[in-house]
Amino acid sequence: MSVKGFPKSFLWGGATAASQVEGGYNEGGKGLDTQDCRPGNFHLTREQKNDWKYKKMTTEKFNQGCASKDVNAYPFRFGSDEYHHYKEDIALFAEMGMNVYRLSISWARIFPLGDEDEPNKEGLQYYKNIFDECHKYGIKVFVTMLHYAVPVHLVKEYGAWSNRKMIDFYLKYAKTLFENFKDDVDYWLPFNEINAGRFNPYNGVALIEEEHENLDNDVFQALHHQFVANALTVKLAHEMMPNSKIGCMIARFCHYPATCKPEDNLEQLHDEQYTNWFYTDVMARGKYPAYMNRYFKAKNVKLQMAEGDVELLAEYPVDFVAFSYYFTQVSTADENWEKTGGNLVIANKNPYLKSSEWGWQMDPIGLRITLNQLYDRYQKPLFIAENGLGAVDVLEADGSVHDPYRIEYLRTHTAAIKEAIEDGVDVFGYTMWGIIDLVSCGSVEMSKRYGVIYVDADDEGKGTFKRYKKDSFTWFKNFIAQENETS
Ligand code: BG6
Repeated sequence: MSVKGFPKSFLWGGATAASQVEGGYNEGGKGLDTQDCRPGNFHLTREQKNDWKYKKMTTEKFNQGCASKDVNAYPFRFGSDEYHHYKEDIALFAEMGMNVYRLSISWARIFPLGDEDEPNKEGLQYYKNIFDECHKYGIKVFVTMLHYAVPVHLVKEYGAWSNRKMIDFYLKYAKTLFENFKDDVDYWLPFNEINAGRFNPYNGVALIEEEHENLDNDVFQALHHQFVANALTVKLAHEMMPNSKIGCMIARFCHYPATCKPEDNLEQLHDEQYTNWFYTDVMARGKYPAYMNRYFKAKNVKLQMAEGDVELLAEYPVDFVAFSYYFTQVSTADENWEKTGGNLVIANKNPYLKSSEWGWQMDPIGLRITLNQLYDRYQKPLFIAENGLGAVDVLEADGSVHDPYRIEYLRTHTAAIKEAIEDGVDVFGYTMWGIIDLVSCGSVEMSKRYGVIYVDADDEGKGTFKRYKKDSFTWFKNFIAQENETS
């Protein structure tokens, strides 16, 4: 079948998150945030790094992290040092032909504690400089307002998202961003991967598991507060910036039934409902889906909703649906099915797919399926906010990095998007994850690299932090140029 290609307006770009790329964790008046307190796991094997037992945040680790002044032991504190390299990085993005940059704003750079009345001017200026730099090259700005990093003061004083007060703190932050950047930002995203709270409560809703007797209940309550904050932020954005575009995002998990046995298909339906649809149904359709009643009952979840919450969710759904896509997995009623790695989850292995070095099963066709499923259900524009391959790259003596595996990943996944567009899906942009090497969120290390730009730093932040173009940089640049020409 011939494929027409990408529309002229299609956005091609890269994505990062403040905590993973910026560094400068205590510069410019920034407060300490939850990601700054996650230690590197240098002493662990790769297998252990993927094991939830080692990965999860504990009260002891959190307190140690809050008290520590060490930088090397806490990789999110140095990141890729974009704080001091942003001009150079954005120039490289422009050279590649990127027309959109998805970045997140660090809440603790704007409100170091989270509950102050006045924002930190230096923090606002830092982002203003970044936006000006993007505009200089005609690069559009896509802002994630909260990508996992919450000011630690809000965790210690208020219990983070389990407390409804967080909605007010978050809205004050949102209002400050809209007031200051209404003319600078093209797309707003209140929450990165909102379903992450279910799989990694510390990252998603800033809860420490062992401190919760009924974790399921508290996680879903915290998520409810995020849903309400999301709806109020959509309301505020549309009031303050009538033409603004504001979306939601999930880590999208695509599941295939292991067999055509009805039990496996039922399992697949439930996996889709509980890990994916629930979140986008609330934010894009505007209401809690009926299938969750039974689930909540089984998990002993009793949500406290305030008067008006239901109406609020219904009245302020998002304008577009964004998602991250890395891998697919198998749904099965067989508990002993072979396991493998995955974004936020341990996945069931699919014998037909190849895996990355971290066990994530690569599946471009799954991306086409996902795009079709999401568009069928919501009929709203879609945005691929993250997609990419984490791998060990080698910097050669002449400054080159040969990464044919990443080129193949990008080639096949972008081809799948093209097919989905031909299927009739309205998808308006693609920001490749970790366009520049950054600290891995899941395994807290630099060794798992995603970028088309290499950053010379190791897991302990040792190195020159010099930037090098990988082979995939040239590939992506040529690809974008070619697509622009043919669209
Ligand atoms: C997404 C996150 O879940 O996956 C990113 O939004 C993260 O922050 C990305 O970096 C890749 O995961 P990881 O664990 O390989 O860094």
